[in-house]
Amino acid sequence: MGSSDIILGGAGIHKSYRTGPVETPVLHGLDLEIRRGEFVLVMGPSGCGKSTLLNIIGLMMSPTRADRLEIDGVDALGLSDAGRTRLRREKIGFVFQRFNLLPVVSAGDNVRLAMRIRGQHPNGRVTDLFDRFGLSGKMDRKPGALSMGEQQRVAIARAVACKPAILLADEPTGNLDSANARHVMDLFGELNRQDGQTIIMITHNEHCAAAADRVTLMKDGRFVDA
Ligand SMILES: Nc1ncnc2c1ncn2[C@@H]1O[C@H](COP(=O)(O)OP(=O)(O)OP(=O)(O)O)[C@@H](O)[C@H]1O
Ligand SMILES: [Mg+2]
Repeated sequence: MGSSDIILGGAGIHKSYRTGPVETPVLHGLDLEIRRGEFVLVMGPSGCGKSTLLNIIGLMMSPTRADRLEIDGVDALGLSDAGRTRLRREKIGFVFQRFNLLPVVSAGDNVRLAMRIRGQHPNGRVTDLFDRFGLSGKMDRKPGALSMGEQQRVAIARAVACKPAILLADEPTGNLDSANARHVMDLFGELNRQDGQTIIMITHNEHCAAAADRVTLMKDGRFVDA
């Protein structure tokens, strides 16, 4: 396997949170390797550090220390804040449990703005994604006038609009009923299989495992064998 088959490589990732004088270690030197096109689930008990890990991989937070963090061939350690933001915009798409759409602009503009921030012109891409995700005719609605499932599908459209190297999702079905959860999981599965989208997803939903290539279990800030 060539090194370019590894889209995400991390070694010795440590993270502690400081509250006042108290420093609490949360991640204890994690190593991970994700291959291009893989669909990986991260599961584990509440508080074990899953979101912390995803936020570090997604360049939203720096590790306390790490030996290596490489994203699509780029060394992500030692970047300035601006450099990290640039790399995040170029390589990472993020889907949150609570959607995090801008409430004051339309669903379509949520996606268009994300593209413009990344220097891309929306062209027909937004319409294509809305049609593909079962959102035809919903483009001009504000997020508040969409169902929860529709809002999450808009958020997924926003995350993949610029074809990120890695799509990260933190409990994307956590706020959805089972029918909407299934629809959203089907979309992730389709993005992975049809577009070759690399996906790392945190979930508590056992049913999601069917769509993924592998499941990684975490406990107390470490990976454990399944
Ligand atoms: N900003 C913060 N400051 C201090 N402690 C934090 C902070 N964020 C998270 N923690 C703590 O770090 C630990 C790991 O949190 P994290 O959110 O990564 O867990 P998680 O596995 O995603 O849990 P859940 O399944 O409930 O979302 C928890 O004990 C949490 O209380
Ligand atoms: Mg979490």
